[in-house]
Amino acid sequence: MMMLMCALLTVLARLACVFCATILLQSLAWPCSNGERGFSYPQSPKAPSIVSERYRTAYHFQPPRNWMNDPCGPMYYNGVYHEFYQYNPDGAFDPNDSLMNMVWGHSVSTDLINWVGLEPAIKPDIPSDICGCWTGSATILFGVQPVIIYTGLIDRKANQVQNIALPKNRSDPYLREWAKVGSNPVIQHVIPGLNSSHFRDPTTGWIGPDGLWRIAVGAEVNGIGTALLYKSEDFMSWTRIERPLYSNNALNMWECLDFFAVVPGSNNGLDMSSEIPSGAKHVLKTPSKMTIGCGRGSIMVLSMLQNHSLTPNTAGESYGLGVTRQIVIQMILQKAGQESMTIWLDGDGKQLIQWPVEEIESLRINEINHQGLELKKGDLFEIKGIDTIQADIEIDFEPTSIDDAEPFDPSWLFDPRKQCREADASVHGGIGPFGLVILASDNMEEHTAVHFRVYKSEQKYIILMCSDLRRSSLRPGLYTPAYGGFFEFDLENEKRISLRTLIDRSAVESFGSGGRICITARVYPVALVDNGATHMYAFNNGSTTVGVPQLRAWSMKRAQVNVMKGGSVIDA
Ligand SMILES: *[C@@H]1O[C@H](CO)[C@@H](O)[C@H](O)[C@H]1NC(C)=O
Ligand SMILES: *[C@@H]1O[C@H](CO)[C@@H](O)[C@H](O)[C@H]1NC(C)=O
Ligand SMILES: *[C@@H]1O[C@H](CO)[C@@H](O)[C@H](O)[C@H]1NC(C)=O
Ligand SMILES: *[C@@H]1O[C@H](CO)[C@@H](O)[C@H](O)[C@H]1NC(C)=O
Ligand SMILES: *[C@@H]1O[C@H](CO)[C@@H](O)[C@H](O)[C@H]1NC(C)=O
Repeated sequence: MMMLMCALLTVLARLACVFCATILLQSLAWPCSNGERGFSYPQSPKAPSIVSERYRTAYHFQPPRNWMNDPCGPMYYNGVYHEFYQYNPDGAFDPNDSLMNMVWGHSVSTDLINWVGLEPAIKPDIPSDICGCWTGSATILFGVQPVIIYTGLIDRKANQVQNIALPKNRSDPYLREWAKVGSNPVIQHVIPGLNSSHFRDPTTGWIGPDGLWRIAVGAEVNGIGTALLYKSEDFMSWTRIERPLYSNNALNMWECLDFFAVVPGSNNGLDMSSEIPSGAKHVLKTPSKMTIGCGRGSIMVLSMLQNHSLTPNTAGESYGLGVTRQIVIQMILQKAGQESMTIWLDGDGKQLIQWPVEEIESLRINEINHQGLELKKGDLFEIKGIDTIQADIEIDFEPTSIDDAEPFDPSWLFDPRKQCREADASVHGGIGPFGLVILASDNMEEHTAVHFRVYKSEQKYIILMCSDLRRSSLRPGLYTPAYGGFFEFDLENEKRISLRTLIDRSAVESFGSGGRICITARVYPVALVDNGATHMYAFNNGSTTVGVPQLRAWSMKRAQVNVMKGGSVIDA
């Protein structure tokens, strides 16, 4: 399971996904249409204010101001990328803010890096979305007609239906204005056992073997997480197919589903609204067992479509190389930011890989390069010459011997974070810990450690990767866990363990072993604000000497992301 999971882990994840909030919504009574405040957002005690322009990310997507959560309906149309997102126009979210005005924020880009903010595309203004326009998706019908299908909140109990909006003018290159169809809601909850306050996040459409459109909608049915399946001839009127696309009682609700196809041996992304070649594998992205939020760790169910339903791969099934470019936009929680990632299938066909889109490399400047370094136990090598708070670092580690790997205990798999806390960067091991120390203050009182430890299992090597935030900031009250995950590694043959870390001020994203594992975090060091500069080191605290055959790092330029002009978003 771990192998299929590339958790997008987040700092301050105690700010649960907006949708978990429906539990509270149910028990509160207030009119949603007049903006009256009464909603309490689930979060742990408030951290002291950490507002500083210096923490604002420089090349991740963020709205110009206020709260955002889910990215929704990403779309590429006539040469323009569209990024919609759940946006609260009334403020940065605080416990007194109301979710009732949730709109679809809208930005456009031609390169996935620089974004121009537009007016919100969809706002609550019809009975079937009067309490909020929540997450959904975009489909381009027959390559020409963009359609958004999204969840509307119809009342203060957060009962949910699905609605459709179309661009008013397809010739407008930015598709600024969207009109809701008169037949909304196009899908209502009429299913026995469906919890209608858990019925949301319709997927992008695809064409089934009968030539009809399909979409899936996340739901709780009889207490079981279910991807309900619908079909339609015209994308407007929908009939439910009795058998769900997939269901699994590990969770009682699935949200932010994503469903896409990958073809072994193909380099191109598949258009789900065209015929899917036979032999394609489908990927259903669902929240992981441990979280129900949209941004906090996902499981990818890799499967075959059989009889219109998903059949998860049996363990051990493998097939040829599939490299398919599927861009997903992931959310980083807490005054959320986003970035675009490519997902593809690993060579053994069992593991999905996540990697930042290559476009991000256009922001690299001031390359520094080191070769043939050697890190002995206790060594700390300072990486200098780049902007340490806005950087992209690629480093390969090569243990000089594999004899000293400590034995692996399979029970650790259940709680990698615990292992990261107990076997942290200061606990000497056989092979590792080695990795990076970033955003470090002069005296190391503040620092974030991203590191690996190699264990020997019966037949294979297992690597633990940690992103340890526990000493990331001297500010009190922050959520600073040690995140972690395990992955298998063929140490004898692959030899080099790679780490890529993107630092974007308060956002830190680390990709282990070419994207087999990724860990994303937000950190708020005092030093970043006070000094504006921090230190960065490569280190080794294991008894085995670790070679660094290659270390390349760059400063990262600032991207133009929803820049404000004269107090308002630029309207291109
Ligand atoms: C529906 O979900 C809400 C929120 O989780 C829960 O409080 C409620 O009991 C559920 N209703 C049913 C009928 O299961
Ligand atoms: C929330 O509302 C309560 C009652 O109106 C008020 O006392 C409190 O200061 C508000 N909190 C914030 C963070 O605005
Ligand atoms: C649609 O957009 C195009 C391109 O911006 C513009 O020339 C045209 O006038 C618009 N049509 C309407 C009806 O607004
Ligand atoms: C396919 O699904 C239908 C209805 O969901 C069912 O009646 C039929 O037996 C299934 N066929 C196979 C081959 O599983
Ligand atoms: C390496 O271990 C020593 C001794 O435990 C510790 O003082 C030091 O901080 C560790 N290095 C890193 C980068 O954590």
